[in-house]
Amino acid sequence: MGPTISLPLLVSPLKAYAISPTLARQDQRNWKVKMSNVTVCVRFRPLNSKERRINGDLTGIHSFDSESFVFKDEKEDVRFCFDKVFYSDSEQLDVYEFLASPIVEDVMSGLNGKILTYGQTGAGKAYSMEGQSILECDEHKKGLLQRVTDELFGFLRHPVDNKKFTIKMSMVEIYMEKVRDLFDLSKDNLPIKESKTRGIFISGATEITVTNSSEVQQCLSIGIANRAVGETQMNLTSSRSHCLYIFIVQHEERSRSGKFVLVDLAGSEKVEKTGAEGRLLEEAKTINKSLSALGNVINSLTSGKTNHVRYRDSKLTRFLQDALGGNSRTALLCCCSPSPLNASESLSTLRFGTRLKLIKSVQRSFPADDDSSISKQATSDSIISKQTTSDSIFQQDSYDIIVQ
Ligand SMILES: Nc1ncnc2c1ncn2[C@@H]1O[C@H](COP(=O)(O)OP(=O)(O)OP(=O)(O)O)[C@@H](O)[C@H]1O
Ligand SMILES: [Mg+2]
Repeated sequence: MGPTISLPLLVSPLKAYAISPTLARQDQRNWKVKMSNVTVCVRFRPLNSKERRINGDLTGIHSFDSESFVFKDEKEDVRFCFDKVFYSDSEQLDVYEFLASPIVEDVMSGLNGKILTYGQTGAGKAYSMEGQSILECDEHKKGLLQRVTDELFGFLRHPVDNKKFTIKMSMVEIYMEKVRDLFDLSKDNLPIKESKTRGIFISGATEITVTNSSEVQQCLSIGIANRAVGETQMNLTSSRSHCLYIFIVQHEERSRSGKFVLVDLAGSEKVEKTGAEGRLLEEAKTINKSLSALGNVINSLTSGKTNHVRYRDSKLTRFLQDALGGNSRTALLCCCSPSPLNASESLSTLRFGTRLKLIKSVQRSFPADDDSSISKQATSDSIISKQTTSDSIFQQDSYDIIVQ
């Protein structure tokens, strides 16, 4: 650990805020109150060969501990705090255990969970999500996807109280503002819909019933091969779309299911750095526009100044509405280069993560085995969807909840 540097703390310690009387009332209604339903982590990838060639081993990070560090660029030193920081020597397993494993358990209990990877192009989003390769990956380098499916099927093989589950999966990408089915390329403009029972969903997406991890891996490799990629100066296999991996876990005796969505976002990019032209340039503009829409939604949700959150400005924000609005456990992995060469992009990613952490909402908690929870859940769902559609969240300044 390095010496203590006295710098302004950019992220306030959320745990320290007092709970308002309104929150206390919510608590009495059997709701589990959390200051934030979004877990935000940062991962720095190792320096790449270009960064090493220009700057040797130099990085912009001064680490304090596993939650905080200072990031330096030529103008400023900024201190950041997150739920967890994975430095360049972190293992795939560490990321999985902190970020995804608790959500798998939630999903098996019938709740919804989402994990998003966000960051500059070439920052390690796909590496974290898929590992080095979805099919040919040693145990050590497996990404979140392989580990999530291993754990889901682990639950299936050793069911608690003989509960039976079925697992279905879909894979779609948002490419140039159209939702494309990666298991059936003829479905190239699917609508995003919302229902009380299913929440936000992609209508008409192919759903494949899967019975073991290797089946899932085969499906994933087909979907990934169908995904739009391009070569830029920053990344030879740059994703040109937002990719959504959707797992639906259905309890055979219940009408409800838990949904786990992993979202590999297309990387934000500075066009002059990536050298994008022609089609790549058009893609870059669309990617940057939808990421800006996501930034705007998060600013609205955390500023407390606006009554209308513009979820419908992009397909991405529409799809993420329930993840941001409180009806899902959500985790964000901010992927960054540690190099001073990419400092401005890394700072922008870190600020995005900081902002997202300020979204606060109420998350429901029900005992997994209590069947009466189904009716409770239905009631809470309608309250939450009413809240979500009316954009009611904790206000940043008052740390209170607006109940319609
Ligand atoms: N933690 C890591 N350890 C080792 N290599 C990594 C790590 N993170 C990223 N890399 C390597 O860096 C390169 C770029 O990573 P990746 O393809 O994951 O970027 P990306 O964020 O998905 O970019 P894009 O937005 O362009 O798709 C890849 O060669 C990848 O193997
Ligand atoms: Mg990628």
